[in-house]
Amino acid sequence: MMNILYLGDIMAEPGLQVVERLLPGLRKEYAVDFVVAQAENLSDGKGIRQEDFNRLKKAGVDFCTGGNHSFFREEIFPQLNDPSQPIIRPANYPAGTPGLGYKYAQTAKGKVLVVSLLGKIVGKDADMLMDNPLQVIDQILEQEQGTARVATIVNFHGDFSSEKRIIGYYLDGRVTAVVGDHWHIQTADADLLPKGTAHITDVGMCGSLDSSLGVAFDSLVPRWRDGLQTRNKIETDGRMQCNALLIEVEERTGLAQSAQAIRRLT
Ligand SMILES: [Fe+2]
Ligand SMILES: [Fe+2]
Repeated sequence: MMNILYLGDIMAEPGLQVVERLLPGLRKEYAVDFVVAQAENLSDGKGIRQEDFNRLKKAGVDFCTGGNHSFFREEIFPQLNDPSQPIIRPANYPAGTPGLGYKYAQTAKGKVLVVSLLGKIVGKDADMLMDNPLQVIDQILEQEQGTARVATIVNFHGDFSSEKRIIGYYLDGRVTAVVGDHWHIQTADADLLPKGTAHITDVGMCGSLDSSLGVAFDSLVPRWRDGLQTRNKIETDGRMQCNALLIEVEERTGLAQSAQAIRRLT
């Protein structure tokens, strides 16, 4: 048996700090073998700085997935390009986009394939650009068929609950887990699907709880009430949250035995 923990979007400095504080305990409590985390919001809410990526690894994160904010800081591009560095961007960007959309990680229990995909519509920016995520994951799984591994973790970073449900069932029995994120709100549907794939529509976030998705209300209310163009300000006060999905893996089949949502408030 192998336990994989997937941490939802780590939102800026408060997210980093909550992970640094809670992850060592979670690793022990659930005998976690491999930790994956969504890093698109790591540095000030957008993109990934090298120094923050180093802090995450030191805190116990083994691998980082990507989303619509992965390209905000160019300093991470060399890591995204390097197959030996444990960080990816969504796989369904068009050819020529910097970085790789899937990579293998070597764990004590064997090789794990991690893939990120972006939904067809995320916010207002992506739908014109993106390749079809269902077709792209089919191509990746076919291409990687011959590579022995103990687990395949698919991250789906999307805005539509319908699309996030569809891909879970589309990949049921073919991958270990399909973990939705991007909303920063955990959904109550963590489940082991009928053919053995762990799924959650959205795993939630790590960072400020008394906020809107990690952003301070006083920087958002003028936007939503008065139509002003305001800049996002990261909320650093109040309660903090750490949301994750724990996946128990049967290494022989590469399928999940259970899927458990984790939600810690501090
Ligand atoms: Fe995010
Ligand atoms: Fe996102």
